[in-house]
Amino acid sequence: MSVKFDTQCLSCGPEAIAQATLLIRAGQVVGVPTETVYGLAADATRPEAVQRIYEAKGRPAHNPLIVHLPASWASLEQLVAKGLVDGTRLGSRERELASLLMQTYWPGPLTLILPRGPALPTSVAAGLPTLGFRVPQHAGFLGLLESCQLPLAAPSANRSNRISPTEAAHVMAELRGRIPLILDGGPAPVGVESTIVAMDRGGALRILRYGGVSREDLESTSGQVVSSLEMNLAQTVLIEAPGMMREHYAPSKPTLLLRPDGLQAFAARIRSLGPLRQIALLSFGQRADLAEGLLPPEASLVECELPLDSKQAAQLLFKTLRDLDSSPADAIVVILPQDLSRELWPAINDRLTRASARWSS
Ligand code: TXA
Ligand code: MG
Repeated sequence: MSVKFDTQCLSCGPEAIAQATLLIRAGQVVGVPTETVYGLAADATRPEAVQRIYEAKGRPAHNPLIVHLPASWASLEQLVAKGLVDGTRLGSRERELASLLMQTYWPGPLTLILPRGPALPTSVAAGLPTLGFRVPQHAGFLGLLESCQLPLAAPSANRSNRISPTEAAHVMAELRGRIPLILDGGPAPVGVESTIVAMDRGGALRILRYGGVSREDLESTSGQVVSSLEMNLAQTVLIEAPGMMREHYAPSKPTLLLRPDGLQAFAARIRSLGPLRQIALLSFGQRADLAEGLLPPEASLVECELPLDSKQAAQLLFKTLRDLDSSPADAIVVILPQDLSRELWPAINDRLTRASARWSS
């Protein structure tokens, strides 16, 4: 796609929202702040607007989008009445559970997979019979959704397979010239994408992508054990969550993970990179000592530490990866904590595993 816009970036106030509304009503694409990561929004009901999202991102057509809704539409009845969700394909237990999750987590970082209704084109769902829906929590994006009175399709506002943007400047760096407008709503407070959950006929919940809502929270809300789609790095594309590419969120520099239980594998991998002059070492809390003796002795180290609190770490994760990727270091080494099972650690682990996938096989 050629450069065609002189991309503007405006603070996300009433005037900017009015301008964004006009663009979206005209079928254009706008960069928007959300509480998770910045998104690339367009009218989900218009195939040509949806097509522009895929073009601006360079996204493969088999990767479905998430549809964002105004807060005033946040009930299953309304989504069915508006033709966005096909209620005839939901059992009674699924309806109950969907309503409970909407009441508990919307607005917020939870995406629910539901049967796609007739008001939404197949392209927004990449041809699937289902689609992800969420009501975001960012006041600026909610203002835009209310102003448009439309469901807005919005993937993360990065070029396909790159690191998701958590600030307006990141969107500019990714998409300058490819979209007309970016709304600047400040740094995204959650910092990783929404948790995506699917329900089966009996109402069993499954996490398709870890994100801003933890598994423990979903379990206490639903009163059931919530399973997850375990990442299978042997596969490039997972059948159930078609967008969950093995290689994703990728920095352009070699990125290796150092897990406390995988020191030897790490040592072999870093040797395979050849001589390194400088390594950026990212750790959570004070675990940088774990790398001692495992890094090439000739390399100088630039250490960077994120908090051991998973919410705080998630908030800064993508910005930190982006900064390290543009630093003079030849490689990025991330030291992971031992226990990644709770809070936002599964989401952080997932993003970092994908970020390093290219250099891990
Ligand atoms: O936090 C978020 O969810 C951000 C902000 C902008 O809202 N959006 C986001 O969108 O992360 P995106 O396009 O980067 O990721 C959407 C993912 C797809 O990759 C796909 O895995 C999943 O949503 N998805 C969408 N529809 C699906 C469906 N019917 N079945 C399974 N997965 C689906
Ligand atoms: Mg994305």
